[in-house]
Order: sequence, then C-alpha cells, then structure tokens
Amino acid sequence: MTEDTLILRRPDDWHVHLRDGAMLGQVADATARQFARAIVMPNLAPPITTMQAGAAYRERILAALPEGRVFTPLMTAYLTDDIDPDEVERGFRQGVFTACKLYPRNATTNSTHGVSDIANIYPMLERMQTIGMPLLVHGEVVSADIDIFDREAVFLERVLRPMMDDMPGLRVVLEHITTRDSVEFVQAAGDTLAATITAHHLRIDRNDILAGGIRPHVYCLPVAKRRFHREALRKAAVSGNPKFFLGTDTAPHRRGDKESVCGCAGVYSAPVAIESYAQTFEEEGALGKLEGFASEFGPRFYRLPLNKDAITLKRQPTRVPESIVSGDIEIVPFHAGEMMSWRMVDEV
Ligand code: DOR
Ligand code: ZN
Repeated sequence: MTEDTLILRRPDDWHVHLRDGAMLGQVADATARQFARAIVMPNLAPPITTMQAGAAYRERILAALPEGRVFTPLMTAYLTDDIDPDEVERGFRQGVFTACKLYPRNATTNSTHGVSDIANIYPMLERMQTIGMPLLVHGEVVSADIDIFDREAVFLERVLRPMMDDMPGLRVVLEHITTRDSVEFVQAAGDTLAATITAHHLRIDRNDILAGGIRPHVYCLPVAKRRFHREALRKAAVSGNPKFFLGTDTAPHRRGDKESVCGCAGVYSAPVAIESYAQTFEEEGALGKLEGFASEFGPRFYRLPLNKDAITLKRQPTRVPESIVSGDIEIVPFHAGEMMSWRMVDEV
C-alpha cells in the first residue's frame, strides 16, 4: 500500500438494480467487475415473488456476464400484500433468496405491487424472524399529505419503530438512508438494524438536483435532502460503526427516460462506484475506514464469509464518460464528465 495505490479486500454491493433483457446485458458487468457479490433488487415488471422467478433471474444475470467473471448475485423476494410465506421460506432454505425487499406501494420504480399496509405482511415478517431471513426496507411513507423531503423521517416513526417493537428478532436493513434522522435511528437501535449508504447520497444534496437548473441524472428516491443530512451520512459512513455499509442503489434508466417530462428516479453509479466511495472517504481523511465499510460490515450483518481476494485502486486521474452507449441504450453515469482521482485497475 502506497499513497498512490489502495488495495482493498474485494467489496460487495448490498443494493443493486440490474434490470433485465438488453439493459441487464449492458449494466451487469459494471457491478460484477468491482464487487464479488451483490444484493439484487427484485423490482422487475412483473416483480420477483417466487423461487422459480428468482432462480431464473439469477441465471439470466450470470449469462449476461463475460466468460470467466466470478460474481455471485444474491437474490431477493419482492414482498406483496399476498406473498406466500411458504414459498419464500422454501426459496430461502434452498439458497435462492437471501432476503426480502419491502417496497411501500407506489414508493418508487415498479412498486405498484408493493405492500399497501405493513399489517398485511405480519405473518410473512414473523416467518422471516423465525428463520433468520433479513428484511430490506425502502423507508419512505407514501401519502399525499407528507412532503417528499419528509417521507423517510416519517417512515421511521410511523412504520419502522412499531414494526421493530413487534418483531424484535427480525434483522432489518434500512436501505439507502438519506437523513440525519435515519443515522441517529440506526445508531440508537439494537444489533438487528443496519443501513446501507449510497455513493451518491454521500456526495449530493438537494441543491445539486435543483439549484441553477434541474439535473435529472441525480434525481433518485429517496431524494437527496439538505446538506446537513449529507454531512451526517458522511460521518456515519467513515465512523467505523459496522451498522453502516456499502449499497450503491445503482439504478440505470435510459437517458430519454431520465430527461423527460416525468423523469425516472435512479442514479447509475456502478461504473464508478468504488472510485466514488474512495474519493469521499479520502475527502473525509478516512481512506483507512473504507475497507470495513465496503468489504467487511456487510458480510458480517448478512452472516456470510468475507471475500478472500482483493482489488487495486490507483491514484490516476480519470475522466468519467458523458454517457455510456450500447446498442440503442444510452445511460448517463454518476460523475459523468468529471475527473475521478482513483481508478480501479482490472487484473486482466
Ligand atoms: O431512485 C431509485 N431508483 N430508487 C428506487 O427505490 C428504485 C430505483 C429504480 O428501480 O429505478
Ligand atoms: Zn434501490
């Protein structure tokens, strides 16, 4: 390890959207070349709710990767009001499903089949608690009377706290946290609660989306909040507290679907994910804390072994492309057009 080389135990990404079809073909290796494993979100259309669908999707992901790439997609089941706990338990026991994902209905992309009232899935949550299956939460209330910037904070008190009180043994990951409220909530909770933090929420606040013109490529959900929230996320990420770990929420959409009268939510960070985190940790004077956050705390929470191999980042100023095109799909990545100070080098 020198000032210009950073060697890290290979990281995992505990929250990705890999999509399907041609889009999957374009984006899958951006994640797989950096990360050994990734928790794959099930919000396809239709969503992944059965063991068979989960296993078939895993095969399509593996088939989309280049020859020789070693990567383990960890599949998730999409909770609906009428999901079958027996089916999910079978999928968990057979190693198809690693976790279940809770989307409050209509909270985000492809969430129309999501849960309309948490009470509807209590039998499913009780089963997960019994078998030790983690619950991954999109933590926003969706209600016309709640301002979009308050949706996460309100979710903590209205939904998450009562649910955790009722289900004290259920292990929960509060995904892609965006507020100081969530940081404090997670810090104060017991060991059953952890949180992922995206690369982009560590770098942007709402001004980056809205001030001086609308920038659709950094619009995502939960939407980035005020700067003091971002500062709280940065402090949590570099704190060394194992309850906070890496989950990019990389969420590709076609350029035209983002630059639209009703633009889709999602930041495509996979091509520059570890570089972006490295830049943030360095700015915080905490590069030494990156490995725990990126490569150790996630597996510890999920009760999986640490990866044995390593990746190398070089201090090599590199410009991120303005867009990435393959066939008829064009995607604008996070950091488009910017210089990054670190670059992960491929072994091959
Ligand atoms: O910004 C987001 N994009 N947030 C989500 O929760 C879903 C994701 C997507 O699937 O595009
Ligand atoms: Zn997501």
